[in-house]
Amino acid sequence: MPKVTIDERTIEVAAGTNLVEAALEVGVQIPHYCYHPRLSVVGQCRMCMVEVEGMPKLQAACSTPVVRDGMVVRTQSPAAAEAQRAIMEFLLINHPLDCPICDQAGECGLQDYSFKHGQAFSRFRFEEKRVFPEKERIPLGPTVMLNMNRCIQCTRCVRFTEEISRTGEIGFFQRGANTEIGTVPGRPLDNPLSTCVVDICPVGALTSTRFRFAERVWYLDKKPSLCTGCDAGCNITLEHRRGSIKRYKPRFNPAVNDYWMCDHGRASHESYREEQRLLTPLVRRGGELAAAGWKDAVDILFQGLRAKRADGAVAILGSGFLTTEEAFLLARLAALLETPHRSIWVDSGPPRRIPNPQGGVVGRDAAPNRRGAELAGLVPGVEGMDAETLLLEDGADRCSALFVADSAFGKAARDPKVVERLRKARFLAVMGWVDTPLARAADLVLPTATHAEREGSFVNVQGRLQRFERAFPAPPQVRPALELLAELLARFDPQWASVTTATAFDLLAEEVAIFDGLRWATLPAEGHPLAPSERNEGAA
Ligand code: SF4
Ligand code: SF4
Ligand code: FES
Repeated sequence: MPKVTIDERTIEVAAGTNLVEAALEVGVQIPHYCYHPRLSVVGQCRMCMVEVEGMPKLQAACSTPVVRDGMVVRTQSPAAAEAQRAIMEFLLINHPLDCPICDQAGECGLQDYSFKHGQAFSRFRFEEKRVFPEKERIPLGPTVMLNMNRCIQCTRCVRFTEEISRTGEIGFFQRGANTEIGTVPGRPLDNPLSTCVVDICPVGALTSTRFRFAERVWYLDKKPSLCTGCDAGCNITLEHRRGSIKRYKPRFNPAVNDYWMCDHGRASHESYREEQRLLTPLVRRGGELAAAGWKDAVDILFQGLRAKRADGAVAILGSGFLTTEEAFLLARLAALLETPHRSIWVDSGPPRRIPNPQGGVVGRDAAPNRRGAELAGLVPGVEGMDAETLLLEDGADRCSALFVADSAFGKAARDPKVVERLRKARFLAVMGWVDTPLARAADLVLPTATHAEREGSFVNVQGRLQRFERAFPAPPQVRPALELLAELLARFDPQWASVTTATAFDLLAEEVAIFDGLRWATLPAEGHPLAPSERNEGAA
């Protein structure tokens, strides 16, 4: 591999690596706008000019590969710094001074590079700026708004729709200084990955119709999390302000979602605002649900599950929204109750395809963790009833007690026929965060945390185990399901009282062979492939 020296730091890189990437290896960031690691290189913006020893002119780092041993590159020599400053001046000649009302402010490439590589004054103070009248708010499609005055013509959005989504809706129109971005007539930007162009637009020209003006970005708290929109397991950054989620953004993981996520996943947090929430434990008394304290609620659950064992089956119906650790505790509960009737229900969803360098990953479930729940033990035992028997047949008739986790396990939780069928269990307990018809029909309702309010792990369609963090606490009367389940298990055996997500996972790893050797504390940030070889499906 050839050696290259960048700003006095020498490194070996694979032949053909461009100078922007090589510089990152030694901690040097060469400013760039049009370059993106997953898009073709066009050398369009000229922001990345650097000096290469032996070459008479400055070179664009993004389109200069390391091809020979001993290349010496200077990214901050007087000539390189002057070129970068001149490009900034050039880009700002026509850029509107509207940072105070621009949604991109705080995460804008023009702002950042102005501070780092620009100058504090302009030589073009009295000239008329080029403007695109009436083109400040052009909907390119249902999810993306264009402000043409802010565009720096980097073509990232054009290349994204040509090379990644492969839908080709965006193009350049007109010529020279009047070049405009737009959609092909009759073809609005409306593909499943459309909002990714907002992520990669380096300035505020493209903004998300969902997020525009929802929050100033410097007020947002950010946590690494996972999308729950399907079982592709896209890595996301959950961004919220004081517990109100403002947006999901893709978090880089080249083995799963790379730099991308789909629009369905981005919108999935909106259900937290739209759905009616369960906010306090409810107990049926005299035919009506009434608020109760947590201690009473757990007592009733314990007695309901145990006392009825003599006169019928006890069944546990979980969902693909459970974390692997919660599913493990439910499986242990089933073992303590000596019931084989444990299963999960997961709705199928439309295929959701996310490109990555291996071809892509395709989510097919409408929930994130069918595999984790099954691996943790939520599968029927010998002669145990499965979810179909409970939901579609008369399984619940035979149940003295049925514990459903969770209240919105699938569309069926709102289907009157299914609710009527499940209600046939003599004792029906439901936990979850959504107030569904199923929850309203239960004898006992236990309000639990959303995935933003708890931590845990999911196993995605590739068999990759990934963990996510709690972003903010649950409301006062709401508890993480794991805490509730640990308290319930502690009624059988006090040692469960101290179980946390970490200890539950470590116990699972000791018991279930496929998790062997893993520890919660050392799970890698990019996830761990459980299957011997990862499965990537279908090129995007
Ligand atoms: S809209 Fe944004 S991504 Fe597209 S060309 Fe303009 S600056 Fe680049
Ligand atoms: S593909 Fe699935 S996991 Fe990824 S963003 Fe879309 S809904 Fe979320
Ligand atoms: S990043 Fe190199 S020319 Fe734009």
